[in-house]
Parts: sequence; structure tokens; C-alpha cells
Amino acid sequence: MDVHESILECIGNTPMVRINRIAKGVDANIMVKCEFLNPSGSMKDRMALKMIESAEKEGKLKEGGVVTESSTGNTATALSFVSAAKGYKSVMHMPKGWIPEDKRKMIKAYGAEVIEVDPGKEILDELEGKSVHGGVVEIIPRIKALELEENNENVWWARQAMNPDNVLAHKETTGKEIVEQTDGKIDAFVCAVGTGGTLLGVSEALLEANPDVKIYAVEPSSSSLFQMAPEIKFYMEKYGVPGVAGLLVNKIEEAGFIEKAFLVKDEDAISMAHRLCEEEGLFCGMSAGANVHVCMEIAKELGPGKNIVTILADNRYRYLVSEHFTT
Ligand SMILES: Cc1ncc(COP(=O)(O)O)c(C=O)c1O
Repeated sequence: MDVHESILECIGNTPMVRINRIAKGVDANIMVKCEFLNPSGSMKDRMALKMIESAEKEGKLKEGGVVTESSTGNTATALSFVSAAKGYKSVMHMPKGWIPEDKRKMIKAYGAEVIEVDPGKEILDELEGKSVHGGVVEIIPRIKALELEENNENVWWARQAMNPDNVLAHKETTGKEIVEQTDGKIDAFVCAVGTGGTLLGVSEALLEANPDVKIYAVEPSSSSLFQMAPEIKFYMEKYGVPGVAGLLVNKIEEAGFIEKAFLVKDEDAISMAHRLCEEEGLFCGMSAGANVHVCMEIAKELGPGKNIVTILADNRYRYLVSEHFTT
């Protein structure tokens, strides 16, 4: 019988697909990794599984345990999905007023408890006039996740924004698969940045295989984590979230391998996401649109015959109610 022992075995090994119609007239090959085909609908399944399995090995998560996190969407869904498949309970802290109902319902469908947390008037007031990153509205929900962990022996908080397994999952699986699928013949890798786990992990694998690969970061123009990172770090320290001030995104800056960081407007990301669905049949979300938008830009700079790879991070179902490029 060709039967999987669990749906968790179906995470990863996603296909790489060439962009055809959209890239007509472009001399470079643009290839996309279809991460929206992961079981819960995003690449976050990979890191959720890796983080949970490490917590099990380290004895932080035991039978009857509860997984908690603060997330604005894909991570909460992925952690709830992996928890359900492994028999753990999950409690997701989400910033009140920032998550559409359909996303909350999706997470609850996996049996998770969703706690909506006020992201904190004080923080939002202090940042008034500046773009607000997901990482900012998650500061108070992170404090709640920490409190739940501190007050309950069986609760484990995943700490996605600083957990090294977030990076390792993408190095050992996503990055490794991309190297194998392309025979290592990659000239450029383009990747949207949220926690930075995907960019960091995949880049490490690609650069090990070929140190000449150029790495390009992509961020929402309304909310750049590279720009916001010092403030997020400051507020996390100020509001007392111990151990979460060392963001993965700081590690990207330290690593110094980013060729260029692109800030992509909502309308450009959305319009390319629509084209990917309508012209290529790729049912992907808004960061996928932003990534391919940037691929088209750099294809012109890099010239003919170059191989450009990017990530289609999540599923279009997440954007049927509201369309925004958020990471
Ligand atoms: C749709 C989407 N694209 C891209 C990203 C960026 O992924 P990472 O957190 O690995 O940087 C995220 C993560 O928040 C996301 O939800």
C-alpha cells in the first residue's frame, strides 16, 4: 500500500514550476517553488513541524501539551495544523482588529483556541505615523504567550521570530529541495521577509551549493521589518518579553549577503498575484505576487539565460476576503 502514516509526511517536497505567459519576452527563467501546496496552505508547515519536533526532543513538549504562539496568520495556522495531527492542543494569540474573521475561522477549524489580544494603544500611539509591521502588533500577544507558558507547565511557546529551527527547517528542506530541483544552477533567489526564516534558511543552502547566487529580499513598502527591526527590538525589551529581542531578521543583516532589499507596493503585489492565478493557474497569495514582481525587475538587470528562483509562500484562500501584501 502506498499510504502515509500521517498528513505530516506530506509537508514539503513541493514542485518547482516555470513562469510562462507572464515572463513572455523576458530572457531569464523564472521558477517558482509552490509552497502554497503544503497541507495547511503555506511554507510555515515546514518550520512548525521542525520547531514542534525539536521541542518534543528537548522535553519542552510532552503528551497532553499545549502549543502557543502569537501570529498574524500563516504560522498560527501551521502550528495549529501540526498540533492537531500530533494530538496537542493549541492556543493562538492574535492581535485584535488585525485578523479577518475567515483567517480566525481557519485556525479554529484545526481545533485551536484563538485569543484576540489588544495590540496595545501605547505601542500603536508611540508608532503613530509610521508603518506598523506584524512584528509590532504581535508584541503584546507575545507577552500573553509568554505568560501562558510561564503559568502552565504543559504549555510551550514556539518563539518563531527567534527560533533557530525556523531557519533550519528551510535550510534542510526548502533550500535543499531547490538545489536538487535546479541541479544547483541558480543565479538569483528572491524572497519575501517576515521573520526572515525562509530567506535565511534557503539562502544558507543555496550559498553552500553555489557562493555566487545573488540574494534579494522583498518587503511590503508600507511596513519594512529591516527598517522597523530596531524599534521592534526596543519595544520588546521595553515591554519585557525576555528572550525574543534577538530577531532572525537581525541575523540577515549581520550575515550581509543581501544584494538588494526591494520594497513592494500593495497594488503591485496584488496585481501580480492576480496574474499568477489568471495567467499561470497558480493559486497563490500576495507575497507570491510581490516576489514574482521583483523577479521580473531583476530579470531585466541580470540579462538573458539567468535562472531566478522564488517562493510562492501561501494559498489564495487566505485572500478571498481581504487582499493585502503582509508577511
Ligand atoms: C504570506 C507570507 N509570505 C512570506 C512570509 C515571510 O516568511 P518568513 O517569516 O519566513 O520570513 C510570511 C511570513 O510571515 C508570510 O505569511
